[in-house]
Amino acid sequence: MLKGKNILLGVTGGIAAYKACDIASRLIKLGADVHVIMTKAACEFVAPLTFKSLTNNKVHTSLFDPNEQGVPHIDLARRADAILVAPATANFIAKAANGIADDMLTSTILAANDKKIIISPAMNTHMYENQIVQENLEKLRGRGFVVIKSASGRLACGSVGMGKLPEPCDIVERVVQEVAFEKTLSGKKVLITAGPTQEAIDPVRYITNHSTGKMGYALARIAKAKGATVTLITGKTSLPKPIGVDTIEVVSSRDMFREVTERYFDTDIVIKAAAVADFKPKTVNDQKTKKENAKLNIELEKTDDILKYLGSKKAHQVLVGFCMETENLLENAQKKLLGKNLDMICANSLTTPGAGFGVDTNVLTLIEKDGSVTTLPMDTKENLAAVILDKISAM
Ligand SMILES: Cc1cc2nc3c(=O)[nH]c(=O)nc-3n(C[C@H](O)[C@H](O)[C@H](O)COP(=O)(O)O)c2cc1C
Repeated sequence: MLKGKNILLGVTGGIAAYKACDIASRLIKLGADVHVIMTKAACEFVAPLTFKSLTNNKVHTSLFDPNEQGVPHIDLARRADAILVAPATANFIAKAANGIADDMLTSTILAANDKKIIISPAMNTHMYENQIVQENLEKLRGRGFVVIKSASGRLACGSVGMGKLPEPCDIVERVVQEVAFEKTLSGKKVLITAGPTQEAIDPVRYITNHSTGKMGYALARIAKAKGATVTLITGKTSLPKPIGVDTIEVVSSRDMFREVTERYFDTDIVIKAAAVADFKPKTVNDQKTKKENAKLNIELEKTDDILKYLGSKKAHQVLVGFCMETENLLENAQKKLLGKNLDMICANSLTTPGAGFGVDTNVLTLIEKDGSVTTLPMDTKENLAAVILDKISAM
């Protein structure tokens, strides 16, 4: 997702500096070319060799290194697509907020005023809550820096409270959101549904399906990274909530119907990737059904067809559905597209290897209302989400 992006990682002298190694590694795995600048204090906590080995690039630790070519702090700033400082110490924050440029990192930051600069403060709670630090952070926000809110928890110094460095995966996600995609969905409100629904039989048992929510969560994540305001309405899954996405958890198809329809008129784009149950038990027992008196048949009735309802009420919205079939994929998908007044349907077959429930990949055929059909090769759900969202942007 960060292929071809040059990310400059600034590491300053806090205990959380060791987590910057994980951050560097994650950025590399996403395809970024990572260059590291360490402050003198950071080198007390982690060896530059660790970053050199992880990034395969020279690690910059001094402004006055006789072995450097050119004017390194200017060159590094010029080449960077974004700068991430994680962890950012109180000292670094104060210097950056006041234009001090007395080492390689702060000099590079000053030379990068046309670049996206993301900082992730980490320090003892008293330091973090100190008015001076908060004023400096406010000043940086005002100058366009992205300041990642520190996490709360037990700190290495023993105190409990704000000031903790967020998890490396969450910091890297913020970098993805800032630099991975053009903001083609900026100003758009996108509603995405994901995961399975559960239809109760009694307080203990329910009917559900194999959906894990991966496709819908990928769509939410990429829509956010493309600049949209995203609401994700999700059935029960084990996936972490996507960062920066308003996530609403539901259980049954009835809950999902309510949450989706409540927001429909204030939404520009709706993508229904949830596997909503088509049937539910006609009656739900109040008490656990005992083995001895159980009837071995469950009478079912149809659930509300959310997509059909949305199609019938469509005004300005772009409405996109998913269908998973085990036979006659295109024929069934076409029928659903027309029958539910959709703008596009994303069809996947459960029988195609690499497609469907649980896996990180999918094989999709996109059918648009004008009849155009795009068959996409197997790809990650994130990459396919980007293609779907590009098609929607073009509509
Ligand atoms: C053991 C130890 C841990 C420290 N942890 C932090 C920290 O988590 N956050 C912070 O802002 N400063 C921390 N400091 C203080 C910084 O190292 C100090 O302010 C230093 O000047 C920062 O330099 P730099 O901003 O150039 O990296 C720590 C100091 C020591 C000795």
